[in-house]
Amino acid sequence: MSKKVLVTRIIPGIAEDMLKQAGFDVTVWQGDRAMTKDELIEHALQANILLSLGSNKLDRSFFETCKHLEIVSQFAVGFDNIDVAAATDYKIPVCNTPDVLSEATADVAFGLMINVSRKMFYNHKLILRGEWKQFEPLKNLGFELSGKTVGIFGLGRIGSIMAHRCKGAYGMNVIYHNRNRNIEAETETGARYVDFDTLLRESDILSVHSALTDETKGLFNKHVFSKMKRTAVFINTARGGVHNETDLIEALQNGTIWGAGLDVTNPEPMQANNPLLEMPNVAVLPHIGSATIEARTGMARLAAENIISYFQTGKPITIVNPEVLHYK
Ligand code: DGY
Repeated sequence: MSKKVLVTRIIPGIAEDMLKQAGFDVTVWQGDRAMTKDELIEHALQANILLSLGSNKLDRSFFETCKHLEIVSQFAVGFDNIDVAAATDYKIPVCNTPDVLSEATADVAFGLMINVSRKMFYNHKLILRGEWKQFEPLKNLGFELSGKTVGIFGLGRIGSIMAHRCKGAYGMNVIYHNRNRNIEAETETGARYVDFDTLLRESDILSVHSALTDETKGLFNKHVFSKMKRTAVFINTARGGVHNETDLIEALQNGTIWGAGLDVTNPEPMQANNPLLEMPNVAVLPHIGSATIEARTGMARLAAENIISYFQTGKPITIVNPEVLHYK
């Protein structure tokens, strides 16, 4: 009998086509919102395989109830919504979709950097409000990026592309901080490894590209912002949980830092009355890092390939808990 795959949202059709062609029985949940936990469990109990999204909370109690699942293939590079330790305890492989969205996400970080440095969103709002009256020699001045220092927090795939963009377009000096040094990216981008405090002290633009983990949760708080330059711009396209939003608002209001560009917020979605949305030196986007046709198609393809490869060869392509393969 065919294995049953539950896809928890409508995603690019290539995933369903590939899975059906490989002999799987595919059900795509048709709702235009994330499934509730009860809906997810009810449907997952009928399936062998879950193709999940970041908006599905797969915690330990989910895995306790759905321990029959043979693999979870996530349509996202981030997997902080999944209790991977719990999945591993139940010997369930968990896969993600790295690389295919790196260019798209780095573009959003780069775009936010330019946007904030020239207060573009704010200036656009002035036109909408009918406040563009004349040439203003002294109002709403931004700053130029050429020769500035960009600090990358998390020089992985996306961070490296951001570093390339900054160096190529503006000759920016690139520094970075990681848990481990990334020698390949250092060679390619001329990035210099520095400790965390140096990253904070020297960056004109500080761009976050790390995963959300116990170590990074709430890391960018009042204390950390106070170590940054008063002229610095904080960019986060990774996960909103990496910064403390109340502290960020305060740091911007007090002039502890100069500006911020966010594609991820804490919490998501951001409410329309959030004070960040009214600040001239702030640009906020609704988590669109991977929202290109190319990236979303690549994510759907890789999410399907992980499932197909697992059943055909015993090994998914991009697995986050490879240790489970040894138990099988
Ligand atoms: C990812 O892939 O992790 C993006 O943030 C979309 O969820």
